Parts: sequence; structure tokens; C-alpha cells
Amino acid sequence: MSRVLITGGAGFIGCRLSGALLSIGDDVAVLDNLHPQVHPSRTVPDDLPADVRFVPGDVTAVGSWAAVLAAVRPDVIVHLAAETGTGQSLTEPTRHAGVNVVGTAAMLEALEHSHHRPAHLVLASSRAVYGDGAWATEAGEVFYPGQRHAAQLEAGQWDHRAPDGGLAHAVPSVAGRTVPDPTNVYAATKLAQEHLLNSWAQARGVHVSILRLQNVYGPGQSVTNSYTGVLTFFARTALTGGVIDVYEDGQIVRDFVFVDDVVAAAVAAVQLPANRLVDIGSGDPTTILAVAELVATACGAPTPRVSGRFRHGDVRAASCTIDAATAELSYVPKTSLADGIAAVLEWMPTSSDFRAAGG
Ligand SMILES: NC(=O)c1ccc[n+]([C@@H]2O[C@H](COP(=O)([O-])OP(=O)(O)OC[C@H]3O[C@@H](n4cnc5c(N)ncnc54)[C@H](O)[C@@H]3O)[C@@H](O)[C@H]2O)c1
Repeated sequence: MSRVLITGGAGFIGCRLSGALLSIGDDVAVLDNLHPQVHPSRTVPDDLPADVRFVPGDVTAVGSWAAVLAAVRPDVIVHLAAETGTGQSLTEPTRHAGVNVVGTAAMLEALEHSHHRPAHLVLASSRAVYGDGAWATEAGEVFYPGQRHAAQLEAGQWDHRAPDGGLAHAVPSVAGRTVPDPTNVYAATKLAQEHLLNSWAQARGVHVSILRLQNVYGPGQSVTNSYTGVLTFFARTALTGGVIDVYEDGQIVRDFVFVDDVVAAAVAAVQLPANRLVDIGSGDPTTILAVAELVATACGAPTPRVSGRFRHGDVRAASCTIDAATAELSYVPKTSLADGIAAVLEWMPTSSDFRAAGG
């Protein structure tokens, strides 16, 4: 049995992870400030199992950390608490850097002062750290295109071009090999979290597991937070009879991974302390239009509309190989996109936030 502290544990991934860790006999505590953008009612969510010790507090407050470390003395800290709005991070960088970067530093400082050393820190990092990652020319030459410029997007030039102007395609990321290149503030803060944890933990002999998560979806994701969770947003639109608005030309690529698969990876990481850096996804890239069509069809909603709208800082393609996670954590994603969407559509009408927001 381990004593596990989960920051942000009242959130989407944290509630499911808490339940999974309790079921294998771990003692689970959660530090969470019930952020109003995620928890509009400011109450502990029903999804958080009753056997979890809930500690209200803010990860940016050293005082919150001191109290929770003294009370819990965790063997493992799973760090999930974060500001997660990618687009929002461009307009509110202080808020994102404050919680994600300073909040992580506050944890390390509190660990120094508490003289308590967990054996292992587990970070939910993000595929966002890669930005647009690596692309390849038709001849197979790999290059890093960097961020798409505003003028490019305004002209509707969605795909990256090879350095000679020819066609190019995205290459799935491989943690440790693909060079991180954040293209938005949120992504920069997630990469900073990785660097902070690694630097401190190496000096202190503590293990760090970094899981770079792709697009996680599933029952329990906030239905009211319009800044995150595109599949959840599509499901909400379709369930209320709306037309799903698909950005760019619909060919944005993402890897949608079901929450229980991510939780299985996190549980395996908690159980096996080590220094590791792995990508966690389904390993099966899909286009945003394909997802929108699956959701709309399953709901009997109108056909999605490809609008040509776009967001600054959005990457064109994100997917990964999961070989390292399979080797390190025996990770094998089990839920197909169709089954995962069905689970979301079954759950959403039962969500009190969905009903409170007018369905
Ligand atoms: N969901 C995804 O698709 C995805 C993808 C990549 C990475 N991640 C990472 O996984 C982690 C969890 O994501 P999620 O989808 O469960 O998010 P979520 O928004 O559902 O949960 C985050 C939780 O953190 C809490 N929180 C926010 N600010 C806090 C603060 N200052 N102090 C204490 N608690 C605070 C919120 O109240 C919330 O309960 C995040 O670090 C995120 O960056 C998520």
C-alpha cells in the first residue's frame, strides 16, 4: 500500500485515478482548490470517491503544501493541478504560469522545508510540449516547421510545407527523441514543469515519471469549461441538437485517448517508481472532422460544418507512438474511439453540470 497525494485530484483525470488507486489498496489524498472554471458549483464532485481524503488548498500557496505534506506524508505525489486552457493561456499567461510553473516550484520548496521526501513524483505533462513537432518531406527528410504564423492561418494555409515548398506530413512524437517546441503559453508551462521536477529530483534522489498525455476524453470531463476537451464540447453541442463547428479544413489531427486508459498508465507508473518519460495516447491518430462526424452520427445531430475558423497557437497535428509506454508500463490502450464516444454520450445527460447549464 502506498500513500498517494494527487494534486488537482478533484478534476477529470484525478477522480478516476483516485478510484483506481483506492481499488488496489492505496491510501489516497487530494489537494484541490475546486477551480470555478472546472467546478462551477465549487463543491467536491460526486465522482470523487468518498474514501479519498479531500484537502482544500491551492498549489501556489506554500502554506497549503505545508499542511497537506504534514497530514499525508505521501510516498508518491501525482501532480495534476493545472490551468489547462490552451487558447486562454495566450490572453492570461500570468495565470497559467502562476499555477503551472510557480505551483510546481511551490511544491518543491515545501518539500525542502517539510523534510519529507516522497520516493516518486508523477507528472501529467502534455503532448502540447511538442508544438507541431516533427514533419517529414515526401522523400522522408525530417524537419521541424515551428509555429504557423498568423498570416499563414488567415490565408487558410493549414498544412506545413517542406522547406522546398513541397508537400509534407506530420511524424508521430516519440518522447526523448522528438524535440519539444511549445507553440502556446500552456505548452511552455507544461515543459517548464518537467524541467523543474527533473532538476530538483535529480539533486534529491527522487524518481520522476513524466507522462505526456495526448487528448484525454471520457465521462467526467468538465462540460462547462469551453477552454478544454474538444470531444466533450462536440458531444455537448450535438446532444443539444446544435451543429458542430469544425475548425480549419477539418483535417487537424489528434490522438484521442480514453480516460481509463490514461488512468491505467498512471496507476502503473505510481506502482513502479523510476525515472521515465513516456507518451500516453491511443497510438491511433484521427482527424477532428472524423471525430465530429462520429459524435454527430451517434446523436442523430446535424452534419458538422467545416468553418475555416482557427485559433492562434493550435497545432496542426498531434499524435504519438506508445511503444515506450508499453515497454515501461505494460500500457495497452483498450477503449476504441467509437466505444469511448458512446460512453461519453451515455454519461453526459446524467451530469449535473450539463443539466445545470441547460442541457
Ligand atoms: N485532459 C487532457 O486532455 C490532458 C491532456 C494533456 C495533459 N493533461 C494534464 O493533466 C492534468 C489534469 O487534467 P484534467 O483534464 O483532469 O483537468 P481538470 O481541469 O479536469 O482538473 C484539474 C484540477 O486541478 C484543480 N486546480 C486547478 N488549479 C489549481 C490550483 N491552483 N490549486 C489546486 N488545484 C487546482 C482544479 O480544481 C481541477 O480539479 C493537467 O495537469 C493537464 O495539464 C490533460
